[in-house]
Amino acid sequence: MSLLELANVSKEFELSGGTRVYALDDVSLSVDAGETLALIGESGSGKSTLGRLALRLIEPTRGSVRFQGTDVLSLRPPDLRRLRAKLQIIFQEPFESLNPRMRLADIIGEPLAIHRANMSPKDRQDRVAQVIEQVGLAPDMARRYPGELSGGQQQRVGIARAIVTAPSLVVLDEPTSSLDLSVRAQILQLLADLQAQLGMGYLFISHDIHTVRYVSDRIAVMYRGRVVETGPSGQVFADPQHPYTQALLAAALPVDPGEEMPPARLVGDPLSPTRLVRGCVLYGRCPVGEDRCAETEVRLTPVDDVRSVACVKPGTVVG
Ligand SMILES: Nc1ncnc2c1ncn2[C@@H]1O[C@H](COP(=O)(O)OP(=O)(O)OP(=O)(O)O)[C@@H](O)[C@H]1O
Ligand SMILES: [Mg+2]
Repeated sequence: MSLLELANVSKEFELSGGTRVYALDDVSLSVDAGETLALIGESGSGKSTLGRLALRLIEPTRGSVRFQGTDVLSLRPPDLRRLRAKLQIIFQEPFESLNPRMRLADIIGEPLAIHRANMSPKDRQDRVAQVIEQVGLAPDMARRYPGELSGGQQQRVGIARAIVTAPSLVVLDEPTSSLDLSVRAQILQLLADLQAQLGMGYLFISHDIHTVRYVSDRIAVMYRGRVVETGPSGQVFADPQHPYTQALLAAALPVDPGEEMPPARLVGDPLSPTRLVRGCVLYGRCPVGEDRCAETEVRLTPVDDVRSVACVKPGTVVG
């Protein structure tokens, strides 16, 4: 059984004035215990919306969300609180998600106060001290305030707070995007070490190909509210099947001097998020698109045992 399973999830936001934003359109994906599924895609593709839906911070317009087999959308408040102990989130801006007037011990211990209300103060203190050490902070940091820390230390606090209740799944929404490169590498290493020790599943959201390549077991490539390609990351990086994935990789990876093929490029502007289309969301920008792509219902379809692509002619090499 998967840890997290989203089936046919769509999310529409209604703006004042009645305009609809189609943030997610019929997305299905799953995350297994101990694995990292990376969600990658350009700004506005729906990554954060999907992450927030997984925790039921927002609710889908259609579709189902299951966590360890339980229907998350039907949970009542006490059960939802219990779920939140097992399903945590880490945000991009550590400082903004930490209360500046609380000491680190209280920030990190707060989820225990909520989710383990019958834990004794001494046990809570011991658990906080243990987690502070696990994330590589000095014990005396417990008395400090967030404003006294560097960006990297603040993100370590965000991680400590997320793991203190021993979650099974953590959603990481661009957890290293605001950090300097050297600090970023340390935080990614810490996340990998914690995953190896604790066996957590990660839903890792990022628009940075290099980060995703480093952290992920599988990837789901998103474009305009849909997952257009998914598979083991090694295979997707080595042999991208969807023209959007090909363009994304070509734009980010160094050009091989021996390669004669020019990098794949997308033309034109992205489809407006206020338009819902039946066909391919890349139609109009796709270098290999045909008229049928606009008319055919293009959905994620298996191309082999482990990979799926939403394209009428997957694997066409874009030049
Ligand atoms: N609360 C909201 N109200 C209206 N529209 C929203 C809301 N939240 C997200 N959207 C829209 O939904 C779409 C997906 O947004 P989302 O934040 O999920 O993208 P993202 O992939 O996380 O982008 P980024 O890389 O910039 O963080 C965008 O068009 C966005 O403007
Ligand atoms: Mg986002």
